[in-house]
Amino acid sequence: MYESFYGFEVSPFANTPNVRFFFESEQHTEALAKLRYTVKERRGIALITGQIGCGKTMLIRSLIDHLGPHAAIATINNTRVTGEQLLRLICAELRLDLPPQPDKASILTALRRFAIEQHHKGQTVTVVIDEAQALAIEAFEELRLLTNLENQTHKLIQLLILGQPELAEVLRHPRLGPLTQRIAMYGHLEPMTQTQMAHYMAFRLIRASQRTPNVDFTTAALEIIYRRSKGVPRVVNLIADNALLVGFTQQARLIDSKMVQRAIDKHMPAFEPTMIALEEVLAHG
Ligand SMILES: Nc1ncnc2c1ncn2[C@@H]1O[C@H](COP(=O)(O)OP(=O)(O)O)[C@@H](O)[C@H]1O
Ligand SMILES: [Mg+2]
Repeated sequence: MYESFYGFEVSPFANTPNVRFFFESEQHTEALAKLRYTVKERRGIALITGQIGCGKTMLIRSLIDHLGPHAAIATINNTRVTGEQLLRLICAELRLDLPPQPDKASILTALRRFAIEQHHKGQTVTVVIDEAQALAIEAFEELRLLTNLENQTHKLIQLLILGQPELAEVLRHPRLGPLTQRIAMYGHLEPMTQTQMAHYMAFRLIRASQRTPNVDFTTAALEIIYRRSKGVPRVVNLIADNALLVGFTQQARLIDSKMVQRAIDKHMPAFEPTMIALEEVLAHG
């Protein structure tokens, strides 16, 4: 709506994991490096935890982008499944042919065959589990069996597990010891500091603009956004997007604290339940 007034090619604060906007903060860069290293060096398992809205799914999109279109990656977002359903989902993501009504053994055989084939081509197979805190213990155990596939030197299937902080609790289950002992890389995403948030917002404004951005936020405006969002990127995006809308209706090139406050008061009630839920998670998680 305000895009053409501010000279944006695309909306700067859309809440989608668009790699065009991937902001390489220290923690996101480090987490991405861990994922890339695990895949490239065939290290087996990597684990990333992080609060809601802090960039886990964005990391996965960036990784997929880095690995290129030919990499064999199965990304699983639906984690409310049984172990066997999970294996089927992985096969479907990898576009493997399965016999009609396959049993578990034939699913595992298909996966194994594919992994070996990829290995001979110098490729690996990567399985990504997003929102893994919801995965059943039994499904985690199936995943461990997958990572058991190895030749003398390397794992044939790389497993990247991402989830909310309570995932750490889930993984403490005694039956998952054999899995957690194999985690080669671990990272955690925190909300941004106020300084990081200011850089993040400036970066997104530049990335969205045709030339240089012709809108900016005052220091006081950033202060309020930070206080309200606590530095969680998803919430920062929501507030900044609404603040630009308020700025546009006033034909303003500089977004001040009053406009941000107005955006929060007038435009965000519809998001309020989400915000409250988020704040609770942040306070107790
Ligand atoms: N490093 C980042 N660079 C750019 N945008 C980000 C970054 N991290 C998070 N975001 C933004 O915040 C939104 C929410 O992040 P997301 O990855 O969905 O969080 P999570 O999966 O941890 O709940 C994303 O859609 C994206 O727009
Ligand atoms: Mg996510």
